[in-house]
Amino acid sequence: MDIVIANASHVKFAEIICDTIAESAKIRGTGIAKRTPEYIIKKMMNGNAIIAIEGDQFAGFCYIEAWGHQKYVANSGLIVHPDFRNQGLAKKIKKAIFDLSRKKFPEAKIFGITTGLAVMKMNYELGYRPVTFSELTDDPEFWKGCQTCKNFDILTRTERKMCLCTGMLYDPAEPRAERVARSDKKISRKTFERLRSIKETLFLKKKNT
Ligand SMILES: CC(C)(COP(=O)(O)OP(=O)(O)OC[C@H]1O[C@@H](n2cnc3c(N)ncnc32)[C@H](O)[C@@H]1OP(=O)(O)O)[C@@H](O)C(=O)NCCC(=O)NCCS
Repeated sequence: MDIVIANASHVKFAEIICDTIAESAKIRGTGIAKRTPEYIIKKMMNGNAIIAIEGDQFAGFCYIEAWGHQKYVANSGLIVHPDFRNQGLAKKIKKAIFDLSRKKFPEAKIFGITTGLAVMKMNYELGYRPVTFSELTDDPEFWKGCQTCKNFDILTRTERKMCLCTGMLYDPAEPRAERVARSDKKISRKTFERLRSIKETLFLKKKNT
């Protein structure tokens, strides 16, 4: 398995990447921001994506977005093809995109919003901490990405304060010792599960009444 910074030779995978993201979101029944092949290609051409390839088969992908004049960087669109799941591939891609983000944008805060328990756990282990949305970028372009999510009405209703997604942030200015002390505590998946279930009860119940 090759896990590399994507380039022009990977453009042929843009379509399958978008289809796999959309298909997985449908199966999970979660909301997701739509990605077009053109957008994915741009990421590849700018050296802002990591791709995993097995032979000539697409296995996984993730990309970087910069917001708020590069003060914030998001690692988005993490996807592992169903044929390659549960083998530790997402973890490797996450680490690779994190290292690339740190290298290209050393001063930037790295953040993500997700409903995925696996992603929350991986982020936590990389030194991210859960934060309120007010600690994330206020760049309207970032939040525009949520418009194509089926839960966008929740975000609007709460005036962008919260949604089903949990915001997580890695702050390079935070003393390393604090990050290490936190990740040493090892958060259990149950904690994130509880958080998600509370939010679903709160927001989706309200939405349906
Ligand atoms: C989520 C996803 C990226 C995981 O890929 P993967 O290669 O199977 O993940 P890994 O094998 O590297 O597992 C990483 C960790 O997440 C856990 N995990 C994997 N899938 C999980 C799931 N569906 N629910 C909860 N935890 C999960 C693993 O147990 C592992 O934890 P561990 O370190 O305690 O063993 C993959 O299932 C996927 O592409 N899903 C659809 C798209 C998606 O959900 N993307 C995230 C959107 S924010």
